[in-house]
Amino acid sequence: MIGSMSVRVIVREAVVSDSPADLALLDDGERARAERKRQAAPFVTGHALVRRVLGELLERDPASLVFERRCTTCDSAKHGKPSLVEAPGWHFSLSYTPDVAVVAVAQGAGVGVDVEDLTDADFEGFAGATLSRDETPGFGGLAGHDLLVARAQVWARKEAVLKATGHGLVVDPSEVLVSGPLEVPALIDWRADAPRPAAISIADVALAAGDHRAAVAALTAQSLDVVVGPSAG
Ligand SMILES: CC(C)(COP(=O)(O)OP(=O)(O)OC[C@H]1O[C@@H](n2cnc3c(N)ncnc32)[C@H](O)[C@@H]1OP(=O)(O)O)[C@@H](O)C(=O)NCCC(=O)NCCS
Repeated sequence: MIGSMSVRVIVREAVVSDSPADLALLDDGERARAERKRQAAPFVTGHALVRRVLGELLERDPASLVFERRCTTCDSAKHGKPSLVEAPGWHFSLSYTPDVAVVAVAQGAGVGVDVEDLTDADFEGFAGATLSRDETPGFGGLAGHDLLVARAQVWARKEAVLKATGHGLVVDPSEVLVSGPLEVPALIDWRADAPRPAAISIADVALAAGDHRAAVAALTAQSLDVVVGPSAG
């Protein structure tokens, strides 16, 4: 149901490119990290997209935004889930592959986004690495392209949940059970030792990039009203 009892999640995607304009938006710390990457372009596109989207929503100069990080597992400020300094109540998440970057923004609820390239779901051990035994029947009868789509979508849902909570892959995704690929996205069971989030909602995201799948999750019991903005970059 979309209405006042839903949380709006704004999603933007960008095609990865080598863009001096993107690089110019990054701060010194981000540029230093970009230089250490084997592939800088996805990082630069992704972080510039975060700055552009938040700058637009907050009516601030994108280059002036300041971020901090906090690790859910060890409380370090050197890594972990990033957040905006001086914008309480605004939450965002970033995910990128070598080709596509996706950002999700929500107000009033922690948010996570994950994008997956279908080709990365093309390996024999997928079920063993990512699914609980209780989830495998949902993949029965799927083959070829449909199977890859199903895997990428379910994997994106799980990782979106773990990015919303901030645990990331410290929590084994096979202990985070989500609905089957052909069902409405939802968290079905939480079997990890880490505390289960009090409330979480999940939505699939329709991307322009047809060879990718994405999902968002937000720490709320309300349904998600996903608004996919125009492709930037
Ligand atoms: C979060 C994580 C799942 C993302 O992995 P990925 O699929 O390679 O990458 P994605 O492109 O989807 O997302 C990367 C972005 O997620 C964000 N991110 C990083 N850690 C995060 C966390 N714990 N929660 C939510 N978002 C996180 C960052 O913006 C990151 O981009 P950056 O590295 O360029 O700054 C992975 O980095 C992870 O598991 N991190 C946790 C590691 C950890 O906490 N270790 C224990 C330390 S005590």
